[in-house]
Amino acid sequence: MIDAKNLTRRGILDLKPYIPGKPIEEVQRELGLTEVVKLASNETSVGPSPLALEAIRKELGNSNLYPEGSSRLLREKLAEKLSIGEDFIIVGNGADNVIDLTGMAFINDGDEIVTSEITFPAYETITRIMGGKYITCKLKDFTFDLEAIAEKVSSKTKMIYLCNPNNPTGTIVKRDAVEKLMDKIPENVIVVFDEAYYDYVEDEEYPNSLSYVLEGRNVIILRTFSKIAGIAGLRVGYGIARPELIGYLSRVISPFPTNRLAQVGALASLDDSEHYEKVLKSNREGKQYLYRELNKLNIFYVPTETNFIFIDLKEDSQSFYEKCLQRGVIIRPGKTWGYPNCIRLTIGTQYENEKFVHALKEIIT
Ligand SMILES: Cc1ncc(COP(=O)(O)O)c(C=O)c1O
Repeated sequence: MIDAKNLTRRGILDLKPYIPGKPIEEVQRELGLTEVVKLASNETSVGPSPLALEAIRKELGNSNLYPEGSSRLLREKLAEKLSIGEDFIIVGNGADNVIDLTGMAFINDGDEIVTSEITFPAYETITRIMGGKYITCKLKDFTFDLEAIAEKVSSKTKMIYLCNPNNPTGTIVKRDAVEKLMDKIPENVIVVFDEAYYDYVEDEEYPNSLSYVLEGRNVIILRTFSKIAGIAGLRVGYGIARPELIGYLSRVISPFPTNRLAQVGALASLDDSEHYEKVLKSNREGKQYLYRELNKLNIFYVPTETNFIFIDLKEDSQSFYEKCLQRGVIIRPGKTWGYPNCIRLTIGTQYENEKFVHALKEIIT
């Protein structure tokens, strides 16, 4: 039989499949547990927006019909909220899909893509698929080091991915640092601001990336309904950029990237300010509770601008992860990011957070 390796795109030979957070059902089945909480994928523990759910129920009967390909109504509403034209927005099957579009539309063989070492893995995946050269800098204080990134920019650089806030560390790059980077790099370099956790940011020095789009810079902003709106399971995210860039992204998107339920759910969630505030409040309170408990236990964590916390256990996190699973708590061990002693913990409901703290205390004592 012919070795399929010889048939495969060279760029993907070294790629490893993405390992998502372990699903609740799998842990229940494997460990015979009835109650399991998942604090591993930065979902919204509060649940989906009730207005989204209502809209989805009403839409179910139209499931025989294809959706509107460009999510027109959703784009109109987003455009109104952001005070920009609809042609500045592209809606995809999650922000993941839009990350792929950035690569498919803009990365040629040999193009250099610059980002940071410990960040969202989708940037590397699409870069390698497209034959780009993936160049990374070290994090500085768990944060993207924009000076180091600027130094790596060369005449071959096509794109910079800035995960802001960064997943998995939860830190942000601030306005001044971004301003300096934008001043330094040539205008033809595309800067992708992945703002999946935008809504959770409390720091007032968070940059206004939209201003770069409005100035006409080659900037693409990514946002999602998976986090604050609580509809990760429906898969809807979007990109914001000047219309010419959106035009090229639109050339490579599939004909019906988002389904009918995702479109109406996302649209309705934009009116659900009550749910939005509830999620933020729950996250703020959960964060303070977890900080207090971690402080009491003298455990190091990185202060977060997101709905997750990066925690250094100072000991092997893989065995901690397994012990957590046995206690019905799914978290994310840090080995995959090169931080074998760290974990990433999604901030859950008070009940879920307490269940984690209980497990933590049992395991470390
Ligand atoms: C930084 C970052 N970007 C993008 C995504 C993908 O979001 P979506 O669920 O919209 O595909 C995630 C999901 O966790 C993320 O953490």
